[in-house]
Amino acid sequence: MIHTADYLVMGSGIAGLSFALKAAEKGTVNIVAKNMASDTNTNLAQGGIAAVMGNDDLLEYHIRDTLASGAGLCHEDAVRIVINSGPKMIEELLEMGVPFTERVDHPGMVELGMEGGHSHRRIIHAKDRTGQAVQKVLVEKALAHPNIKVYEYHVALDLLTSSDPMEKRRVEGAWILDRVSGEVAPFFSKIIVLATGGSGKVYLYTTNPDGATGDGVAIGWRAGADAANLEFVQFHPTCLYHPKLTNFLISEAVRGEGGVLINKDGVRIMADHPMGDLACRDIVALSIDREMKRTGASNVFLDITHKDPEFVKERFPKIYNTCLNLGLDITKEPIPVVPAAHYQCGGLLVDTESRTNVPGLYAIGEVACTGLHGANRLASNSLLEALVMADRAAKAAIEEANNLPEPRTWESVVWPTAHLGHAPAEAVLITHSWEEIRRFMWNYVGLVRSDQRLAMAQKRLATVKTEIDEFFRNFEVDADLIEVRNIAIVADLIIRSAIMRKESRGLHYSLTWPERDDVNFKKDTILKNPVPSILLGQKEG
Ligand code: SIN
Repeated sequence: MIHTADYLVMGSGIAGLSFALKAAEKGTVNIVAKNMASDTNTNLAQGGIAAVMGNDDLLEYHIRDTLASGAGLCHEDAVRIVINSGPKMIEELLEMGVPFTERVDHPGMVELGMEGGHSHRRIIHAKDRTGQAVQKVLVEKALAHPNIKVYEYHVALDLLTSSDPMEKRRVEGAWILDRVSGEVAPFFSKIIVLATGGSGKVYLYTTNPDGATGDGVAIGWRAGADAANLEFVQFHPTCLYHPKLTNFLISEAVRGEGGVLINKDGVRIMADHPMGDLACRDIVALSIDREMKRTGASNVFLDITHKDPEFVKERFPKIYNTCLNLGLDITKEPIPVVPAAHYQCGGLLVDTESRTNVPGLYAIGEVACTGLHGANRLASNSLLEALVMADRAAKAAIEEANNLPEPRTWESVVWPTAHLGHAPAEAVLITHSWEEIRRFMWNYVGLVRSDQRLAMAQKRLATVKTEIDEFFRNFEVDADLIEVRNIAIVADLIIRSAIMRKESRGLHYSLTWPERDDVNFKKDTILKNPVPSILLGQKEG
């Protein structure tokens, strides 16, 4: 079956849904979601959305904090665009009915939380379930919209790009696998938006959900989109350390409300830093890593037991209840925590309207590199970026689509491996490849890197990647194979970017190159795919 719409959006988090709702005012939209539409990284976001809404705050302060966190690599134009649009985006969400927490003393005014790297209280939140509150409203609106069709349990394989030598190459659709029926079908559209989120699952330990397999970066890369700054993987300092729940985030807002990091002897870890426990994430995560290596401990602790228990329960209901279900009362005991992969600061390089260098292809949210985050994202700037860039992308895409003919429907297009593939004799081999990548990425391309470690990772990846490519050529595609193929591409891009940056800056810390080198490296790391794949878009006959 062939599907067509004016816009094809991959991903149903805050970026994809915000774009879809705006584009749907002017055209038809197909949204492809890997799992249920609400099963996204957005849904897990606890902390909130950074925006200047307080009387003592200024847009310039937020801009200054973002630039400082980004360690010299932020694109100031992107920073100004995103930060300046913050208050308007929050107003839009309030109008849509997102139930942000209100001030007790001023009902009707949003309560402002605090997180690391921010000089002022400016985190708009719905207690510690901000993402869930936003996701719920956006999903409901998208499902009810007459111009939007949501395909749940559908996963994108690759883009269809026109390969007719007489035409300018542009994306015209995508191959999509229906995970329930197992069929691969073409979805055609004028504009394609990648909003698939990040790639935390490249690493063994992550706060991300299972779906965060870097699909958008890999798909865009194969189609010829440039990638930037992928060495800057943000490790959140405080992921819960518990054998029964390995990817649960303990929001930075806990430190914002007074939580302190301590070692097993109760000694404060961040006491010597001028910003204490609210220093930027790169600094806090590295300090924890050093402390764990120094003492040989498997984790450190986040202590909020000195605060009023009723306040803790009221402000952090999700964290309190999740920990309590594991037998840990956070009002009485410190929380065991470790750093874990959390956010991809780089991604597909886009302009200020979210356009990649491939005509017709846009990227929004974690999949994209706008230049806002530089070498280290400021806490809670990501949901804000997704909202602002989705808004700008929708305006640009609507204008572009207006000047394009109807989407093509190549009746004769055939998924090349659909008839060749057979089920793998041992599907477990795919799992082994995945585990192998995640483990060596954690060991060699984690918080602390060196030329030797990166070379070791590159060597191992080359072998696994060859095996995965063989699986892909020979086996019937399923979601696991699609994901492991994407993980391998993203791991490769991260390693190559990290090797190119011969300095330490922001989230990239190298034992071989421990100093920051502004003379040679105050610039983005940009990778270009010299041989973009066009095979999948070839018209038959
Ligand atoms: C958190 O709640 O700590 C996560 C917020 C973010 O990653 O920006």
